[in-house]
Amino acid sequence: MIPAQSLTPKDIVAELDKYIVGQADAKRSVAIALRNRWRRRQVPSPLREEIAPKNIIMIGPTGVGKTEIARRLATLAQSPFFKVEASKFTEVGYVGRDVESMIRDLVEIAISMVKEEERTRLEGVAAANAEERILDVLLPPVSASPVQDAKYDMDSITESIHLPAEQSTEADSTREKFRDMLRSGKLDDREIELDLTESNSMPMVEIMTTSGMEDMQSNLQDAFSKIFPKKKKKRKIKIPEALNGLTREEMERLIDMDKVTKEALKRTEESGIIFLDEIDKVAAQRSGGHGPEVSREGVQRDLLPIVEGSTVTTKYGMVKTDHILFIASGAFHMSKPSDLIPELQGRFPIRVELHSLGKEEFVRILTEPESALVKQYVAMMATEGIELVFEADGIDELAAIAVEVNEKTEEIGARRLHTVMERVLDELSFTADERDDKRFVVTAEYVKEQLQDVVEDRDLSRFIL
Ligand SMILES: Nc1ncnc2c1ncn2[C@@H]1O[C@H](COP(=O)(O)OP(=O)(O)OP(=O)(O)O)[C@@H](O)[C@H]1O
Ligand SMILES: [Mg+2]
Repeated sequence: MIPAQSLTPKDIVAELDKYIVGQADAKRSVAIALRNRWRRRQVPSPLREEIAPKNIIMIGPTGVGKTEIARRLATLAQSPFFKVEASKFTEVGYVGRDVESMIRDLVEIAISMVKEEERTRLEGVAAANAEERILDVLLPPVSASPVQDAKYDMDSITESIHLPAEQSTEADSTREKFRDMLRSGKLDDREIELDLTESNSMPMVEIMTTSGMEDMQSNLQDAFSKIFPKKKKKRKIKIPEALNGLTREEMERLIDMDKVTKEALKRTEESGIIFLDEIDKVAAQRSGGHGPEVSREGVQRDLLPIVEGSTVTTKYGMVKTDHILFIASGAFHMSKPSDLIPELQGRFPIRVELHSLGKEEFVRILTEPESALVKQYVAMMATEGIELVFEADGIDELAAIAVEVNEKTEEIGARRLHTVMERVLDELSFTADERDDKRFVVTAEYVKEQLQDVVEDRDLSRFIL
């Protein structure tokens, strides 16, 4: 994939178009916001520091693609991206998560992201080192520096080794011969004895945590893992397994955690994105203000410094939140963006509306996206040897019924398609493995047949669809 840095707004929209039908305004806004991060980084200091991210609120009814846009953006942005429900947070001091934890989570994501990149970068080196270590076990080095972790196992490889210590060129060529054998898999059945670090030797320490204590738990676990150093265990294992184990061990040794941490912190600050879903749930209608109302406003007050820019302590170091991009979203059924406290409103200057979806959109959602429902079911049935075919009018009917049920009962947007589809294919799903007829065609007729009763009975459809 093209690095996110060079994705233009049009590229981003095109990428999103592969998964999300319609909602052009929202796509446009997030595309601009994403590109603006890159633009800011090109601006020379000190102006660069002054440019604040243009945070976005996406407003729209349930099930029209708000979260879906965020999800797709995450894979596309190639920046640390963390999605969290605002309703999860509670004011400091109450039971629940404190808002700063989202920054800590974002850093964790950045760390694993950078670590993963390092892994990819060092793959070759680690594999080569591991190979050398295996060869050292098979043919202990003639002169100096025997590798400590590796032990030569007499029993399993006696036959083929004659190593006159004086003739090092011969030793070299033997080593190369072994290398060839190793690579071509001829030694796969051999067993060797190795001292391998056990991957999971740390005692599990679970501590009940309450708000704000998550960090303490991870700090304690770190501390424990230092007190109980990783165990090394001598084991007799097959060569391919030994290669894997050694590659992993080499990788851990090669990765420079200081460098990873530094890069991850920088990325979090410069290009981190936090998606605050369900923000409307913490927007309270301004009333007298007791009970949950108070606590909601408290959450907003806690959010404010983070969105405005402050410094959060994480176990990897301090993180400045000034340039982290926040994208909030909410249905705002019961409340309006103007119900948020004014300071917070000011920090989300961009508002985009997502529109509710109609039949045409449903038809497209069913068929077009790369992971469209229809494609999913076809692939699932293929695993049973069934060729599932949807006729165009069958899909039309499905979409029409979804719209109808949405109107009659509750508007849940494209989520309705999942329930309707599941119902239509109920019979096939149950009997797929034992069918003689390996072709199954979904026609408008069939859809009607499966759904008519349910749709006509409002009460029934409330439960079933
Ligand atoms: N415009 C769309 N294009 C493709 N798929 C969509 C679209 N809108 C919704 N969907 C599908 O519907 C489901 C629900 O969508 P999503 O999670 O984005 O809803 P939402 O807008 O976040 O709703 P809520 O306010 O309830 O959180 C997802 O599985 C998604 O794939
Ligand atoms: Mg959502």
